[in-house]
Amino acid sequence: MIKKTAAIIAGAGSGHRLGADLPKALVKLIDKTLVEHAVNSLAPVAQLIVVTAPAGFEDQFKSILGDQVKVITGGVLRSDSIRIALAEIGNEYEFVLVHDAARAIASTQLATNVINELASGEQAVIPALDVVDTIKEIDANGYVRNTPERANLRAVQTPQGFVKSVLAHAHASAEDATDDAALVEAIGIKVKVIAGEERALKITTKSDLARAVEILLPNIQREIRVGIGTDAHAFSADTSRKLWLAGLLWDGEIGVDGHSDGDVAAHAICDALLSAANLGDLGSNFGVSDPKYAGASGATLLTESLNKVISAGFVIENVAVQIVGNRPKIGTRRAEAISAISKALNGAVVSVSATSTDGLGFTGEGKGLSAIATALIISAK
Ligand code: CTP
Ligand code: MG
Repeated sequence: MIKKTAAIIAGAGSGHRLGADLPKALVKLIDKTLVEHAVNSLAPVAQLIVVTAPAGFEDQFKSILGDQVKVITGGVLRSDSIRIALAEIGNEYEFVLVHDAARAIASTQLATNVINELASGEQAVIPALDVVDTIKEIDANGYVRNTPERANLRAVQTPQGFVKSVLAHAHASAEDATDDAALVEAIGIKVKVIAGEERALKITTKSDLARAVEILLPNIQREIRVGIGTDAHAFSADTSRKLWLAGLLWDGEIGVDGHSDGDVAAHAICDALLSAANLGDLGSNFGVSDPKYAGASGATLLTESLNKVISAGFVIENVAVQIVGNRPKIGTRRAEAISAISKALNGAVVSVSATSTDGLGFTGEGKGLSAIATALIISAK
């Protein structure tokens, strides 16, 4: 016989740190409130769901959630809320999941994994993630007391699962605790830790809410911008001048005249990047008269442009540049050029192509070089 599972969704907190003017569980995440998301994720695996609401908001919770769940008034502390909810769950339920409405987008699969462990004989099961930061235990004066071994530490999530009688026993002798497993540990029950998931993040602050949107709608909400840039320089009368093009030095080729190194491909890309982010152009950013940029390499200007684009809140999706001219022949060094530009742009996806113009115009007449570039950037958040 399949054992019955009840779920408690703790939603009675005020959401002080989120700073909305309504309880956190009622805050909207895309199309639904946090508590609706949480109910939806547990509904497929729990035969009864009890939701704790802040006093005064019970009717609002009921009208949003309908008859599929039981809404009750929560307590002052989270553990009070859980204790009150537990009293609503009859003895026909073998297992209880305790979940935070704040972990609104935890997956149904995570809840299933917890229940499967209970079904295989565990009495208490919690999902958790590895910890990336080193954690310090400190004393009341703000000095480090101890540094626990990071490899042994886990960041705990919900839903947590318990054999109901075990959870009831733990809460009967209860103090306050930020998670239920701590109370179960205190009565000497072994708590099994299973793999948690990123999407079970606890929505505490506005940036957590933004992260949850990103998880639910990857890319869709992001701003995508395209930019365009061109540049042209005449070949120099000074035959000793070196040619820099697409981030490379071209031995045996005559260079172009210009304030900087005259790398038309790099400059066109810089303009495309600045244009995509609506940040003006090379001249307005790096001033042709600014001595800082006299002789600046194409790679330097690419990196500086990238930094401006990043500061404006964007990341590069890709850039493409086409070099126009009779010489040099780009094909043999295309891979090298792509790699030089990409390196200056911190690993961005880059493509380099080239064309001659059939004898027409200043490029066709061999008087100089030009380049045209596009850049696609997306907002980082
Ligand atoms: N919770 C509860 N009863 C309480 C306090 C908290 O049911 N007396 C719930 C919250 O609704 C939340 C979960 O416990 O889903 C975890 O708490 P937390 O993330 O701290 O939420 P809040 O207490 O609402 O937020 P804050 O601490 O920022 O005020
Ligand atoms: Mg709280």
